[in-house]
Amino acid sequence: MKAQNRNVKENKAATTIVLGVTGSIAAYKAAELVRRMQQQGWDVWVMMTEAAAKYVGPLTFQALTKHPVAVGRCEAVETSVYQHLDLSGRAGAVVIAPCTANVLAKFAHGLADDVVTATVLAAAGPVVVAPAMNERMWRNPATQANVQTLKDRGVLVLEVAAGELACGDVGAGRLTTLENIMAATAQAMEQG
Ligand SMILES: Cc1cc2nc3c(=O)[nH]c(=O)nc-3n(C[C@H](O)[C@H](O)[C@H](O)COP(=O)(O)O)c2cc1C
Repeated sequence: MKAQNRNVKENKAATTIVLGVTGSIAAYKAAELVRRMQQQGWDVWVMMTEAAAKYVGPLTFQALTKHPVAVGRCEAVETSVYQHLDLSGRAGAVVIAPCTANVLAKFAHGLADDVVTATVLAAAGPVVVAPAMNERMWRNPATQANVQTLKDRGVLVLEVAAGELACGDVGAGRLTTLENIMAATAQAMEQG
């Protein structure tokens, strides 16, 4: 009986989460986020913008997730030709953390010029966005309009936190806590 239960547990497919990492100084926090997601039993696949790969090496995420990491333009990705479609179609959620002002704007306008933006545009399930940027970038009406556009479309855009920013300014723009990102992702998946 015990062995049977174990088999049932082992056969249950883990929820796939796509974690998109973009070119923010907060990108290093995504490595810890991967660990938290794995502790939740989620199977995490990481995708990065080209800029993000300058902040944290793809190898870090590859080692943590045990999956290849897609970086940059879709046609340059060596892992799977249609990785942006394959993963976005079966992921329980697509989480972008940290999300730059630039990528946020691309999402709002439906651009799909790299593996992260193409994956979000093709997402079949919930999308969670955790922005991180300088306060002036965050408060810029263009960014605020982009946030509103995404929220109106049902994207879960998390609030930024206030405090000391990496650039030395103090204000709103810090990546929210990993706890908040985890809770929002779980909630987004529950609601479908
Ligand atoms: C040290 C440093 C830190 C940066 N941090 C951020 C940030 O937190 N948020 C942001 O929107 N842009 C930030 N930028 C600017 C982005 O890296 C830049 O806009 C880049 O083109 C973003 O590329 P991506 O959006 O394709 O990842 C930073 C730039 C530098 C040099």
